[in-house]
Amino acid sequence: MRCIWAELQVITVINVALPKGRLGHKVYEMMANAGYSFDGITDKGRRLVFVNEALNMRCFWVKPFDVPVYVERGTADIGLAGKDILMERKPDVYELLDLHAGKCKMCVAAVNGFHDPIERPLKVATEFPNISREYYGSLGREIDVIELRGSLELAPVLGLSDVIVDIVETGTTLRENNLSVIATIAELSARLIANKSAYKFNGGIISEIIRRLANDTDNA
Ligand code: PRP
Repeated sequence: MRCIWAELQVITVINVALPKGRLGHKVYEMMANAGYSFDGITDKGRRLVFVNEALNMRCFWVKPFDVPVYVERGTADIGLAGKDILMERKPDVYELLDLHAGKCKMCVAAVNGFHDPIERPLKVATEFPNISREYYGSLGREIDVIELRGSLELAPVLGLSDVIVDIVETGTTLRENNLSVIATIAELSARLIANKSAYKFNGGIISEIIRRLANDTDNA
C-alpha cells in the first residue's frame, strides 16, 4: 500500500502586485520576457486579477501607490514599485532588485528666475509630503507642505506654491509650463520588493524570479 501522504503535494502560489499605468506596462513586459506571462493582462478590459496555473502565479493590478501596502501586509508575496513610492511610504519589505525601468528623478522645480523667500516657510506643493519634509529637513529649511494629487506644475504658475517636489522624466511638462529644476533629490526606477515572511518561506521561488528578471534587466 502506498502512503497517501506521498501523493500530497503542497502547491505554493506566488501573488504579485503590479502597478497600474505607465510603469506597470513596462514592468509587465519585463516579466513576460522573463517567462512570466498572463493571458489577457494587456487587454483593454477592467479585469484586475490574472492567473497562470502552469507557473502557480497570480498577479493583480493595483494603484502604484498601493503596491507596498499589498506586499507589506502579505496579500502579495512580491510587487513591482517605483522607488519614489518606497521612499515616500517606507514600507517594511525587502527591496531586492533594481529593474532599471521607468527611470526618472525626484526634483524640486520652480518658475524660471525663482528666488527663495527666506523670511517665511517655503510653500511646497507635492504628492510626496514625507520626501519633501525629509529633504528640506536635511537643509534646515522650514516648509509649508501643500498636498495635491497631480498636475503639480500648476501650483507655482498660479502662485499656490513657491516650488513643487515632483517626478521629472523627460522634462517636457516643466518646460511647457516655464518651470525648471532647481535641485535633484533622488534618482528613481522600478524595484522588486518582497514580503518578509514570504521571502523567508518561499525564498527559492522568489530568488528564481529575481534571477530571471535580473537577466532581462542586463539584456535591456
Ligand atoms: C508625472 C509628473 C510630471 C510628469 C513628468 O505626471 O507628476 O507631471 O509626469 O514627466 P515629464 O518630465 O516626462 O514631462 P503624470 O503624467 O504621471 O500625471 P500627473 O500630473 O497627474 O501626476
